[in-house]
Formats: sequence, structure tokens, C-alpha cells
Amino acid sequence: MKTLVYAHRGASKLAPENTMPAFQLAYEMGAEGIETDVQLSKDGIPVLIHDESVRRTTNAVGFVQDYTFEQLRKLDAGSWLSEKYENTPIISLEEFLIWAQSKQLQLNIELKNNVIDYENMEKKVYDLLCKYKVVNRTTISSFNPVSIERFKQIDRKIATALLTSQRISGLVNYTAGLGAKALHIKYRLLNSKVVEQCRDREMKLRIYTINRIGAMKKCYQLQVDAIFTDVPDKAIEQRRLFEQ
Ligand code: G3P
Ligand code: MG
Repeated sequence: MKTLVYAHRGASKLAPENTMPAFQLAYEMGAEGIETDVQLSKDGIPVLIHDESVRRTTNAVGFVQDYTFEQLRKLDAGSWLSEKYENTPIISLEEFLIWAQSKQLQLNIELKNNVIDYENMEKKVYDLLCKYKVVNRTTISSFNPVSIERFKQIDRKIATALLTSQRISGLVNYTAGLGAKALHIKYRLLNSKVVEQCRDREMKLRIYTINRIGAMKKCYQLQVDAIFTDVPDKAIEQRRLFEQ
């Protein structure tokens, strides 16, 4: 079984995370999937940014939820990484889906609603996935189990995933109980037992964030379903070497 390579926030080592250049680069590198993070703007637009605050990845300060989308898109979300990317804008989920619609890519939309439980976020995201007809190649993930359950109420069939970095006893059973089809775990939680438990329950197992060669090799050896990486080119190259 081939372990899929998902670009984590796009090809985020070389281009500013969660922006169009990072997604485009990941696509050109041959990533099979893209992972991105969603927050809601003041006017309720799903936007792609990892943190609740704009401070780390833009030239401004404050919470994402205190800016309208029009205000957010005027920020510079590229210079923090490299001057080459000066004035790269924050984009909306809708802009991302317009771009992704025509490409053969698996999508992982991570709802960043474990710190701020944004009102109606699930429905807003779901409506966009339907509008651009990508529901059947999208997994919705969240660190917030309540949000997974809400999504299941909107659409019983959509693939959801619980995210965790915590060692929780009975994790695989708990995830299945939420109705999630996948478990997304931090690398330090990976072992052959969790791989086996997921396989027994026909649950997908995906691992984040895999940037080192040693970690890539372990994921390929254990045949996990997918890895999330900031360096998809390196992960694809290592997978090719591993297969030989
Ligand atoms: O979805 C996998 C991974 O992105 C979860 O953690 O903090 O990088 O969004 P984080
Ligand atoms: Mg994420």
C-alpha cells in the first residue's frame, strides 16, 4: 500500500504556509494531497490561516476573528518567511477550492475550532465543499471532537478525522465512536499497535508533521495511509527510494 504525501499548509518550508504559492508549489512537486487550516473572519468568511492570531504569519497583530475578510486580504502574509513573497495575501477557503477544483488532489480541511469554537463554521465549510463538488475527496479534521460530531449531523457520509497529539487510552475506539473515518496523530504517537488497531477498524491513519528522513522511513515501513509534510518533494523522493 502506498503512503500518500499531503503537503502540510502547502509546501510550507519553501513558500509561506497556507498561501497560494505554497499550494501551487506542492502541486508542482507532485503531492497527492493538501492540508490547510481554516479560521473564520469577523464577517464569517472561512479563511486559510493556522493561528487564531495574525501576528506570526503577517505584518499585523490581533485576532483573525477581529478582521473582516477584506481587511485580512490586504495584509502581507509572505514577508515573514522571505522578501521574495512580499505582499502574498491570505486567501479564503473559497479561493482555494476554485484553484483545487480542477486538480487531482486529496484535500484535508482542518477546522481550527479547538481554541475559538466559531459559530456555524461546519456548515459554512460544508456548503463551500458542495458548491465546488469536492466533498468526496475531502477529509474534514479537527482537534475538537464536538465539531466532528456536528459535521456528522450535517452529512453522515463525509470523511472526518480526529486530530490528536495526546496519548489517550482507547483512542481508536473513541475515534470510531465519534463516527470519524480517520485518525490524524502526531508522529510520537505512532507505533505498530495503533497501525494494527486502525487497520482492524478500517480507519485511515495519517501522521503529522513528517519532515525528517528517519520519520518518513518509519511511516513508509509501517504503511500508514498518509503523512503530512512541509517538504513534499523530499517525502516523495524518500518514498521512491524506499520502494526500490
Ligand atoms: O492536520 C495536521 C496538522 O496540521 C495538525 O497540526 O498545528 O500543524 O495544524 P497543526
Ligand atoms: Mg493543520
